[in-house]
Parts: sequence; C-alpha cells; structure tokens
Amino acid sequence: MACRLISLLRFTLFATISAAPKIVAIYQPKFGCPTKCGELRDIPFPFGTSPECYLDSSFLITCNRTFSPPKPFLRKSTTIEVLNISLDGLMRVAVVVARNCYDESGARIKGKSKSPHLRLSKFPLSNIHNKFTAIGCATAAVIQGIGQQNFSTRKLYSTGCISQCGDLENVVDGSCSGIGCCQTSIPKGMRNSSFTVNPFGTNVPKFAPCSHAFVVEEKAFKFSSLDLKDLRGRMHVPVVLDYAVGEESCAEAQFNPRYACRAKNSECINSTNGPGYRCNCLAGFHGNPYLWDGCQDIDECETIKPCSGNCKNLPGTFRCYCSKGYVGDGKKDGTGCHPSNSLWIALGTSMSLLVLLIGSSWVYWMLLKRKLIRKREKFFEQNGGKILREKLSQQKGEVETTRIFTTEDLKKATNNYNKSTVIGRGGQGTVYKGLLPDNKEVAIKKSIISDEKQVEQFINEVVILSQINHDNVVKLLGCCLETPVPILVYEFITNGTLYDHISDERRGSALSWEMRLKIAAEAADAVAYLHSSTIKPIIHRDIKSTNILLDSNYTAKVADFGASRLIPLDKPHLSTRLEGTMGYIDPEYFQSNQLTEKSDVYSFGVVLAELLTGEEVTSTKRPVEDRNLAGYFVSWTNDDRLPRILDKRLSKDGKIEMLEKFAMLVKDCLSVKGEDRPTMKRVATELKSLSTIEKHPSKDTDASTGVSEGAHNQNVPSKTEKDAFVGSSGSSSTLGFESISDKQ
Ligand SMILES: *[C@@H]1O[C@H](CO)[C@@H](O)[C@H](O)[C@H]1NC(C)=O
Ligand SMILES: *[C@@H]1O[C@H](CO)[C@@H](O)[C@H](O)[C@H]1NC(C)=O
Ligand SMILES: *[C@@H]1O[C@H](CO)[C@@H](O)[C@H](O)[C@H]1NC(C)=O
Ligand SMILES: *[C@@H]1O[C@H](CO)[C@@H](O)[C@H](O)[C@H]1NC(C)=O
Ligand SMILES: *[C@@H]1O[C@H](CO)[C@@H](O)[C@H](O)[C@H]1NC(C)=O
Repeated sequence: MACRLISLLRFTLFATISAAPKIVAIYQPKFGCPTKCGELRDIPFPFGTSPECYLDSSFLITCNRTFSPPKPFLRKSTTIEVLNISLDGLMRVAVVVARNCYDESGARIKGKSKSPHLRLSKFPLSNIHNKFTAIGCATAAVIQGIGQQNFSTRKLYSTGCISQCGDLENVVDGSCSGIGCCQTSIPKGMRNSSFTVNPFGTNVPKFAPCSHAFVVEEKAFKFSSLDLKDLRGRMHVPVVLDYAVGEESCAEAQFNPRYACRAKNSECINSTNGPGYRCNCLAGFHGNPYLWDGCQDIDECETIKPCSGNCKNLPGTFRCYCSKGYVGDGKKDGTGCHPSNSLWIALGTSMSLLVLLIGSSWVYWMLLKRKLIRKREKFFEQNGGKILREKLSQQKGEVETTRIFTTEDLKKATNNYNKSTVIGRGGQGTVYKGLLPDNKEVAIKKSIISDEKQVEQFINEVVILSQINHDNVVKLLGCCLETPVPILVYEFITNGTLYDHISDERRGSALSWEMRLKIAAEAADAVAYLHSSTIKPIIHRDIKSTNILLDSNYTAKVADFGASRLIPLDKPHLSTRLEGTMGYIDPEYFQSNQLTEKSDVYSFGVVLAELLTGEEVTSTKRPVEDRNLAGYFVSWTNDDRLPRILDKRLSKDGKIEMLEKFAMLVKDCLSVKGEDRPTMKRVATELKSLSTIEKHPSKDTDASTGVSEGAHNQNVPSKTEKDAFVGSSGSSSTLGFESISDKQ
C-alpha cells in the first residue's frame, strides 16, 4: 500500500471556553409557534424559530424565507442548513465541504477553495454516526476542535488522514482506505471544529485537481472514483450533530428550576457526547418530553401488537391475558395461550352436548320409526293380525309356517304395484303378479276391506289356506298385514281359470273330455278335503268355475276362500247371511239360510254342468225358464235329452254312457234338497273312478258300479261304503274322510 494512514496529529492547546451563553429560557413554547420551515417538517421544542418558541437561543432555527422553499439554518448561521431534528438528541445538518483546488502549475485556485468552521459549542459532532473524510490524490486533511473526553477538562483536539493515488486504476469504488479517499473517526465531544485541507505533494494529477475534507454521516456517503473530480460538484454533505440541554448532568439539573424534562412520564439522560442532558419519554410513552403533556401513552396493543391472547393497554405498558378457559402469559414472545383443563371441561361439555343432540335426534328418529311401526302394528291388528297370529299358533307344526311379508318385500316384488303387473280385478280386490327375490312368481292379492266383517273374512282365508296343504288348492305363501289393505301372497297359477277354458272357444277346444274329468276329479278332491280334512271342516261357499284355476299341466287349483267358513264341530251347520255367486247358490240355503257342506256340493254340481254343457251359468240366450244352468240341466236330463245339451266339443271323444254317468252325478249334486245330494267325498270318488275308466277302459266295472251306487245312495254313508271308497281310491287315503263321516 502506497498510501497509509498517518497517525493522529494531536495538538494539545489550552483554550478557555467562556461561561455558558446567556440563556433567556422559557419553560414552554408559546402557543402557535411554527413547527415547519420549508423542507424541515418538524421543529420540535426545545428548538424554535423565535425567542418565544425555543428553550434558549442555542436552539434557534433561522428560517430564511428568501429561499423558495424557505430554508432553515442553525442559529444565526447562513451556511449550516438544518435537515432534520429528532427528539432522541440528534439533528442532521448540511455542512459545506472544505476544498482546495490547484491549477496545472500547482497554484491554488483561490475562488474554489473553502475552509469551513462549525462554530457550534452546543452541538458536538456525533462520534457514532459521522466520519471525517478526505478525498484527493495528494491530500492531507485535518479536523480541529474542542475534544471533551473528560467533561471537566476542555482540550483542543486535532485529527486527520492522508489520501494519495498513483493511477486512477488503483482507486476502488466504495473503499475509503487511503487511495483517493481516507476516513477517520471523530473524537468524542468534538465541537467548534474546523477542517483544513492541504496538498502534501506537488504532483496534483489532472483527474483529481482538488482536495476535499468533510465530516459526513457515514451511511450517507459512499466513495466513488468519480468523486475525485471535484466531488461531482457537491458543495454540502450531511452531518449528524448531538444536542443537549444545559451544561449540567441530570443529577444536578433535576434541582434546577429550568429543568427541561417537563413532561410527566419523562426521564433525564446524561449526554454521552459532552456536557448537558437530554430528555426522553419513559418506555411506553412517546412524544415530546420537553412539553408539559408531551409524553403520551403508547397503545402497544395497536402499535406493536405484543399479545397472542387478549391485550389491555395500560399507562406506559400493556397487559396480555388469555381468555377464560385458557392459560399462559398471552404474549407472542412468551407462552401464548393454551386451553386450560377447564377448557377441556368446556369442550367436553360441548362434546357431550353434541352427543346429546345426536342422541336426541336419534331418539326422535327412533320415535318416528316407532310411530311407523305402531301404525303398521295398528294396521296389523286392524287387519286381524292378532287373530291370525293366534290362529296360526294354534296349528303350529301342522304346515310349514305362513310367511309374513313386509310392505317393502311386496313393493319390490310388484315394482311398487305397477299397473302392468295387475293380473286380475274383482269385488274383493286387485291381484298383481309379483316376483320374489328368489325368482318365485307369486300372485299378490290386495284385498278391499271396508268393515270388520270383511277383516274376519280375510283372516278366514288366511287361516283356512294356511291350514291346507293340498295339491289342488292354491297355496298361500304368506301375507302382509302392515298396510291399510291386507295383502295375500299366493303361488302363481299360470293357466287361468276353468271358466276361461270353458267359455273361450279356442281355449276350450283344448279341454278334452278326459281332461275335464281329471279337472273335475281334482277339484272335487280338493273340496272334499276341505270338508273332511283339518281340525274343523271348511265350507268353501263360493265354488264356481272362476275359482278353479289351472296350471300349466291343467291341474286344478281351488282358489278364493274369502267366503269360506269353518264349521265349529258342535254345530252341524251355520246360519249366516246369504253369500255366494248367483247361479251357484244352493236353493235350500236360499230358503233356510242354513249353510252345510251340501251347499258346496250344489255349487260344484253347477261347475260340473258347465263342464258338460259348456254353457254359461246364467245366460239370457236361453229361454227364461232355462236361464239358470242348474234348472236347465236338470230339466233336460230328466227329459233324456242330454245329448242335445252336451258341449259339442265333447260329443266326438266322450263315450255316451260315461257322459250319462257323469250327468247323473251332476243331477244328484243339483238336487233341490241337500240331503238328496251326495257328499263331496263321494263326488270326488265317483269322478275319480270315471276318470280312471276313461284312461283305462278295461277296469271300468268295479268302479263304475261303485260310482252309480254311491251316486244314487246319497244318504249318510254306511261304514262299508266308506271302506269301499277308501279302497277304491287309494290315492285319496290321505284325506281325512273320518271327520266328515263322523260329522255327517
Ligand atoms: C437569507 O439568505 C440570504 C441569502 O443567503 C441572505 O442574504 C440573507 O441575509 C438571509 N436572511 C436572514 C434573515 O438570515
Ligand atoms: C428526517 O429523518 C427521518 C428519519 O430518519 C426521515 O424519514 C426524514 O426524511 C428526514 N427528513 C429530512 C428533511 O431529511
Ligand atoms: C478528568 O480530569 C480531571 C482534571 O484534570 C481529573 O482529575 C480526572 O481524573 C479526569 N477524569 C478522567 C476519567 O480521566
Ligand atoms: C471556537 O473556535 C473559534 C476559532 O477557532 C474561536 O474563535 C471561538 O472562540 C471558539 N469558541 C468556543 C466556544 O470555543
Ligand atoms: C449523570 O451523570 C452524573 C455525574 O456524571 C451522575 O451522578 C448521574 O448518576 C448520571 N445520571 C444518569 C441518569 O446517568
């Protein structure tokens, strides 16, 4: 390094500083003192622009209004412009740069040279913020002033630095270490200072004809090689000055009536850079400590927001605190706020409230469901569910249990009772075709029930059918009682009713004589079974061709037990309201209202007549006296005119003697007096033997005699007869003939 810092030049001079300036002190500024001057936005007390506005004359700010905008100058100076005054004891001023310029011959250019003085005994240069700086290539700069490291002594101090540079290339921008630029610290308490700049060599390079020296705010100046060229024309640089009040320390000043720290919540601070003190607002307050009400409380809650919890502003301070249920200091830089145990309790309480809420809504839902269930139960009861259950329980184990379907099951099976699934409509209700989940086809009968009597009827059907397990009786699979209308579920019979086959020419032609005999025998067997089987005999009461269904094999299935009655064992007959279908009703029952099994025999006789003649039961096509098929049939057979009333479709395949035997049986069944009619079991047996003969003509003798005997002997069957029938119709032996015989 060509250039190096030359050690401090220290001069020790004794200079007596005259006594403190005459102070015409005021304690507070006059109201309405100007606080602005041009660019200087704030002139705080103790500074002021007039005697009524400043604390003492050393704080005078001269506002020169010949400038536009006006310029504030320190005291009476015309060169030290005030840039900034802050209440923490610092002010920034613009100070003229000391310079010396030389021409090519090495002569000093007078006009361009300056050596400014800062004659400011009250305002020492801030040794913290400033640096003494010299710029040039053959420059020695010195600063002189009263140094005051020991406040009781006042000594003149000098310090300085040397800067040189051979070539411009050696100069490094931003580096102020002796090449083109040098810097040195300011001694503490330096005031009333002056700077001088002198060349120490003769070779003043062309690129740096001037030497400069100045005290400058360190952070406001960054050296550049361009500064070598007359500091780029700059005449002033900012300098930071310390200011203090009075000459005494705080300890002394507090007893002085002119003590400047007037504000409540203010404090006194010894000046660190010279005699005197300054004032400060206490922590937590801000404002001007030199004014009565200068120190105002700081609302920390709003300004620094120190709390993570709640914040309460207090005079000079604040308090962080946590909400109820939380613990901690509530401070952002502290523990903050955490839920306390009691909060857990509160949380627990709300959780349990939630649970309670959920629970109660569940209960409500359950109640709703319960209500629905009750409603269904009510329907169930209304629909005779109780009676049914009782009745079903009485016959436990006899048949496979009747299934009780739910509303949902049936809705699903019928596609919510879709119209397309309707397979029949009648006075008693609507029948839907349904499909159970196991792909079983079922007939679902929605009964129309309007009074309790019908409920009873409905239950009858359920109970009766559930007791019956016969191949030729439509099987009841189950029921549903939860709906307002009770619903029955039957096995699905595919081939329609017997009536359909007789009346429909096309379908009827498929019913051969042999087939008709078979169907008749099967139906008779079923009815005989009803009369004789189970615990209590059953009277169907509504036997007709539309109640005999046919499956795909033309197997007869007796259906519709809505009107059926169980005859209590102690009563041989029932006295009831007239029921049944016109044309099928037993004439004796018409007169007596007394219902016996023989009423069924009569109705069955009408069905047999239909089979034989293919005629409608009641027809307006026939003469008035022959409207009723039963009467018509009997009168014509009595007149031996059977062949004329026979179904034409039968004449070709039925043997006439067989047809005649059949006709005789029909005639017996249609006897006006019930006691003249054969029992149902006898009818069944005779039809069976006729059917057997028709199939196997060779075996006809035995059975046919039996039939004819039985047919003509309609009184209470003898023991032998019964045995004979059982023997001749082995397949019927499962039927409970005993009971009906006993009853008869
Ligand atoms: C204001 O500044 C001008 C120009 O520097 C000077 O002539 C004048 O005396 C100053 N006025 C005061 C009141 O200092
Ligand atoms: C005074 O100082 C403050 C903060 O240091 C600054 O924001 C402001 O601009 C300064 N005013 C002047 C006139 O320099
Ligand atoms: C300050 O100067 C006085 C008088 O010269 C001397 O007695 C005192 O010890 C000095 N204090 C310090 C800290 O140098
Ligand atoms: C300041 O210095 C100047 C000359 O350098 C001198 O005339 C003046 O008396 C000094 N003032 C004080 C207060 O020391
Ligand atoms: C100020 O200085 C005086 C004397 O130097 C000393 O007694 C006093 O404690 C100081 N006060 C403060 C607040 O530093």
